Amino acid sequence: MSQEIEWEKQHCGVHQASFLQLAELMPDVLKLLKDFPENPLDFTWDVKVHMLMPGQFPCVPNWHYDNIPRVNNVKDFSRVQQDKPMYLWLSGAPLTEFRNPDGTTRFISPKTWNRFTQKDEHRGTASVEFGWRGFIRATHKDILPANHAGTDPLRRHSQVYLDANNFSW
Ligand SMILES: [Fe+2]
Repeated sequence: MSQEIEWEKQHCGVHQASFLQLAELMPDVLKLLKDFPENPLDFTWDVKVHMLMPGQFPCVPNWHYDNIPRVNNVKDFSRVQQDKPMYLWLSGAPLTEFRNPDGTTRFISPKTWNRFTQKDEHRGTASVEFGWRGFIRATHKDILPANHAGTDPLRRHSQVYLDANNFSW
């Protein structure tokens, strides 16, 4: 079976889904899990499908961290669990840029499971062409349990971000 997923034929994604919910709602994604390095049942799953145009950012464009716990909506870095992993998988460009400990930066490789932690700073980059893009993030369930707010895991919409300096209406 081909490893390629027809992203335009998928749901918009899932939001904080358990592995079983991911398997039920987006079964085509399961073929990517053959080389997932850990037990997928131990992770909470986010998937986003985008139809991108040039200049659109499919994820947050400023430097940031993922899944920093918040108390009364204020980030609490003392609750970070750096020993617990997250994994990022992208179907292709635009690729997420990560900051290395020495301050240099790197772009992650597409179509592979990229391990990172809550202390790894990163930012989204803009698309330069038209196309479909699939994003998958697996977060260890000790960092983020699935459906903890009781929400429906089927994603209804995927936002994009724009560089306001280049945008006109
Ligand atoms: Fe992020």
